[in-house]
Amino acid sequence: MNYFVRLWLGFTLALTIVNGAQVSFELSGTTLKLGGIPYFVSPSPISQLQLGAASKQIQSIGKAFPGGLIPFSAITTDAAFLDQNSVQRTLNAWASLDDVWSTSFLTGLFISFNGTSRSPVVSLSNSAKGLGAQVVLTSTQYASGTKASEKLAPGPYFVEASTGNVYQVFRLYNDENQAFVYGTVPDGNGGFAELSAHVEGAATETIAVPSRLHYTATKEKPLAGKRLAVKDIYDVQGLKTGCGNRAFFELYPAKNKTSPAVQRLLDGGMVLVGKTKTSQFANGETATGDWVDLHAPYNARGDGYQDGSSSSTGSGTSMGAYSWLDYTIGSDTGGSMRGPAGVNGVFGNRPSHGAVPLDDVMPLSPELDTAGIFARDAKSWATAGHWWYQNFTSAKSFPKKILFPTDTSGSSSLTTPPAAGTANAMFNTFITKLEKFLGTNRTEVNFAGMWNTTKPANSTAPSLAVLLNTTYADLITLDQIALLADPFIADYKAAHGGRTPFINPAPFNRWGYGRTLPSTQKVEAIANKTTFMNWFSSQVVKPNATSCSESLFLYPQSSGSTNYRNIFRSAPTAPFGFSANRIAVHAETPDMVVPIGELAYNSTITGVTEFLPVSVSFIAAKGCDLMLFDLFAALQDAGIISPVKTGSRLF
Ligand SMILES: *[C@@H]1O[C@H](CO)[C@@H](O)[C@H](O)[C@H]1NC(C)=O
Ligand SMILES: *[C@@H]1O[C@H](CO)[C@@H](O)[C@H](O)[C@H]1NC(C)=O
Ligand SMILES: *[C@@H]1O[C@H](CO)[C@@H](O)[C@H](O)[C@H]1NC(C)=O
Ligand SMILES: *[C@@H]1O[C@H](CO)[C@@H](O)[C@H](O)[C@H]1NC(C)=O
Ligand SMILES: *[C@@H]1O[C@H](CO)[C@@H](O)[C@H](O)[C@H]1NC(C)=O
Ligand SMILES: *[C@@H]1O[C@H](CO)[C@@H](O)[C@H](O)[C@H]1NC(C)=O
Ligand SMILES: *[C@@H]1O[C@H](CO)[C@@H](O)[C@H](O)[C@H]1NC(C)=O
Ligand SMILES: *[C@@H]1O[C@H](CO)[C@@H](O)[C@H](O)[C@H]1NC(C)=O
Ligand SMILES: *[C@@H]1O[C@H](CO)[C@@H](O)[C@H](O)[C@H]1NC(C)=O
Ligand SMILES: *[C@@H]1O[C@H](CO)[C@@H](O)[C@H](O)[C@H]1NC(C)=O
Repeated sequence: MNYFVRLWLGFTLALTIVNGAQVSFELSGTTLKLGGIPYFVSPSPISQLQLGAASKQIQSIGKAFPGGLIPFSAITTDAAFLDQNSVQRTLNAWASLDDVWSTSFLTGLFISFNGTSRSPVVSLSNSAKGLGAQVVLTSTQYASGTKASEKLAPGPYFVEASTGNVYQVFRLYNDENQAFVYGTVPDGNGGFAELSAHVEGAATETIAVPSRLHYTATKEKPLAGKRLAVKDIYDVQGLKTGCGNRAFFELYPAKNKTSPAVQRLLDGGMVLVGKTKTSQFANGETATGDWVDLHAPYNARGDGYQDGSSSSTGSGTSMGAYSWLDYTIGSDTGGSMRGPAGVNGVFGNRPSHGAVPLDDVMPLSPELDTAGIFARDAKSWATAGHWWYQNFTSAKSFPKKILFPTDTSGSSSLTTPPAAGTANAMFNTFITKLEKFLGTNRTEVNFAGMWNTTKPANSTAPSLAVLLNTTYADLITLDQIALLADPFIADYKAAHGGRTPFINPAPFNRWGYGRTLPSTQKVEAIANKTTFMNWFSSQVVKPNATSCSESLFLYPQSSGSTNYRNIFRSAPTAPFGFSANRIAVHAETPDMVVPIGELAYNSTITGVTEFLPVSVSFIAAKGCDLMLFDLFAALQDAGIISPVKTGSRLF
């Protein structure tokens, strides 16, 4: 067994040699390699084993382990009889369930009984040679911490030979796609701390994940043990919120409160493993020139050198890259969930506006901001969606009407060369399967034309392109200047002798545009947005009592086109114009992105054929999010859509 303590990490050593002042010495955890795999051991014990008669034996085993930390496995059983074979069966199951536990944790075996009758007969020799264990303890020799609830959950741990202290163990992963700002571990006070560990990697963060074996999903905690990373615009107690800006990160202290949106997911049992990169202040940025403060995360699909879209870039790229991560959350104001979901080939949604509270989350525009979640399969996506969007209800049936826009304003990506032709065939095949599933035929609509023929009588707007050309740009710039830019710049100047903080080109230019607008502009923008929203819900996608939404409005989200990182682009400008992407933004409806395939291209990076994702966006009436989640789960059961893998290929 290859075992060595690599480093006692990051202790805070504050030495003040004044009048007998205190020395502060705080261990912040240990990194070590066991069987060649890097692990992190929490600094504070979570329990203590009463070693009793086994004490001498354990201390002697501990001599072989630096720091006296003995790797061991806790097994919980309700079996009345336990022999080597039954233990082996459990361990075999663990090996396929969990990436943290390994046979290296078999030096010690701790068996606790959770059965209803009497204690089990344990027919294992004290050395249990066949399993490689040097010592076997059973729960009769054990008293957990103070509370019964602190009994050891099944899985891997370290026990300190001299004290019997039990430490939680995390496996360490390298964030090779540079998607994270930092990894996190619980701080023991209901909050989180930045992970102090680091494994080998070029300019990368390290992420620590706990064993999956510790958690069992229940009705109260349906997401128990699911590993979550959050976009670095959500506040989490104990952590700084950086919003993709170095000056902002440096200026403000760690937060003392977790945003309710994140807390809801933690309450459902998710475990937070890190904060992911956002493009600056959640404004749209394209790799890599726009990303001055942080380096743009790498999209894992295709050749690995495609833009990961924005602004929930780290959350989208990490979902497409890391099988050790289950969920990531981001936000969508004008496409910040849907863009990354599309190009990273994962499931991702913009929910109905107001689906979850956004207190303690950085604002772009409160009228438009929403909180979405990424996943790699429709069913686990639905589980999380039902938990998070708790105030919505499912529908009795699915809609019987499919609307598909044929005009370019409704489906801009249809016209994007070179892949569009092939992507069209893929969209067509998918919609044909959906028609069969729902027992209907699609209705092709000219979206811009619908406005012309059914627009409200009192509207003077000749077209949607005129009505909504600047609405989005006006709202996000005016709101963000008032709610974030002005107070931040003032705070920074006050703290830095009048100096201005650095702002990336995209937010800088957008705020610059916003500062030119008259004070009446926001009222006008909201009036236009409301006109569109009311028109959309009365003329295009109507609510329905049985299917929640009368129809499903589909449009292409990603078409397998390239968008290389190593391209020099023109400077970013304010986001004008109207496209299909803006429908849900102004209509406050859900817009959910589902990967349906991948298309081949010849990579200028690798010189060989690679593949990029093709995905479809689904819009339904406002508040029908759970109907859509249920539909996708049903489509996955029917084999019409499939879970996606991590890495270069989706399937
Ligand atoms: C005992 O724990 C095991 C492992 O966690 C679990 O599968 C089993 O259902 C538990 N039994 C009871 C009676 O709680
Ligand atoms: C939490 O932080 C806020 C903002 O910095 C501050 O106003 C508040 O007093 C803090 N609350 C506590 C309990 O420390
Ligand atoms: C959902 O409902 C609960 C209970 O009524 C309420 O406290 C909460 O604010 C609601 N959330 C949203 C996002 O409306
Ligand atoms: C769909 O169109 C086909 C061919 O035009 C027709 O045979 C079929 O009845 C239609 N199905 C529905 C549900 O309208
Ligand atoms: C809608 O009306 C505008 C203004 O008259 C016109 O420019 C546009 O072509 C029309 N669009 C469609 C699809 O009819
Ligand atoms: C148009 O009419 C609707 C419904 O009566 C009203 O709510 C809206 O404010 C009007 N819009 C304009 C631009 O007058
Ligand atoms: C609102 O719509 C009118 C057309 O009715 C358009 O001229 C104006 O530019 C729009 N303003 C905003 C802020 O969207
Ligand atoms: C949209 O607004 C921008 C900025 O005012 C302007 O340059 C552009 O011509 C407008 N486009 C349309 C279609 O109105
Ligand atoms: C709901 O949709 C169904 C099927 O399209 C339709 O028959 C029904 O009339 C709709 N109900 C309402 C209240 O619009
Ligand atoms: C890749 O290049 C080869 C050789 O030029 C060509 O035959 C093939 O069609 C190309 N494939 C794609 C997907 O563009």
